[in-house]
Amino acid sequence: MLDQARTVDRNRILQRLGAIARIGALDNGGVCRLALSEEETRSRIEVVRWAEARGCICFVDPIGNLFLRWNLPGAEGQRPVLVGSHLDSQPVGGNFDGVLGVIAALECVELLALHPEPGLAPVEIAIWCNEEGARFNPTTMGSAVHAGHLALDDALAVTATDGTSVAHALASSLDGLAASGIRPRPRALGGDYAAYVELHIEQGPILESQAVSIGVVTDVQGLAQYRVIARGIAGHAGAVPMAGRADALAKARTLLDAIDRLFGAIPGLLYTTGRLAVSPGSINTIASAAEFTLDIRHPDGTVLETAMQRFEALLAEGYCERLIYQVPVPFDPAVADIIAASAARRVLSWQAMVSGATHDAAHIAALCPSGMIFVPCRDGISHNENEFCSPDAVTEGAQVLADTVRTLARRYGR
Ligand code: GLV
Ligand code: MN
Ligand code: MN
Repeated sequence: MLDQARTVDRNRILQRLGAIARIGALDNGGVCRLALSEEETRSRIEVVRWAEARGCICFVDPIGNLFLRWNLPGAEGQRPVLVGSHLDSQPVGGNFDGVLGVIAALECVELLALHPEPGLAPVEIAIWCNEEGARFNPTTMGSAVHAGHLALDDALAVTATDGTSVAHALASSLDGLAASGIRPRPRALGGDYAAYVELHIEQGPILESQAVSIGVVTDVQGLAQYRVIARGIAGHAGAVPMAGRADALAKARTLLDAIDRLFGAIPGLLYTTGRLAVSPGSINTIASAAEFTLDIRHPDGTVLETAMQRFEALLAEGYCERLIYQVPVPFDPAVADIIAASAARRVLSWQAMVSGATHDAAHIAALCPSGMIFVPCRDGISHNENEFCSPDAVTEGAQVLADTVRTLARRYGR
């Protein structure tokens, strides 16, 4: 028998998604809530307040990940089940990427707090810092630091294109929390967690095209991100002969063509240059520098590594900084089994799948048994203002998450 008391509150979830969507809302229905911006801080304040109303205690680690802890009286010292995602967005982002997982995690805690059972393990909502990596590269910065995959000092020193550092933005964001009366307790990096689970939109077309409700994620494909700079010599656009130019943009173009030839020949490899910036950026000055990003992904670690080696050899003479390298990550089969059983129990169709996008869960999998739940999004569109996840899919995903978290809290409780 399915217990009504353990049924997620569809209206509460949709209202909360709507409330967060208004913070940083863009004219065409999307959102801009960059990591550690004033907007993201406001969304954090909103979620912390909702969680505090359910008795959660707020913690922050040195890279700005927030943890909202709920536990039964007497379970203060016990390892928590972690459940969460992120509130930051792409510069022109959608209203489900990340925020769905946070609001659904909050719903898990709502149900546990309203209908507790003796012996449940503590549950913590994780709000990972800078998952998108859009303002501050790389992607999944907060969880990577938390799991020890990226050095804290290196991450704090990263600057946005306007020169603001992560350290500075984090201090401002914490000031914003404090001004709202939220003073999180310190939490060390690493951490002893019983398990981690995250709900996310699929961000691709598979579930929708197969008319399947729930994706049980078995693996996250591998990823490498780079910053590349081609250098030239600035000069007058009308006076320096074409033959004598050292044009940084021309060099970058040649490099991008070579990357196309190299990577285009590797089946299944996905490669993206999402940012190209030319300096000094003047209509009548030859470029002295052209900087671009490169994001490479493949589910097979050997193929990805070979691609990276060939690419780095290509750049032997240019400046190239590897920002992150994450090998393909398998999730814990026992967590996947619980997710699949939870979906089946709610009579929802499900299928096992590999995640094309990366997620904080890929780092946290190094700390504890981890898993992810996907729900379909319309036309597989994401990182786009038109991103859309139907109210039914939102509710079904949140329900499977809540059932999974309760099962984990029972399993790891005392
Ligand atoms: C997350 O947004 C990713 O880059 O996969
Ligand atoms: Mn995301
Ligand atoms: Mn994203």
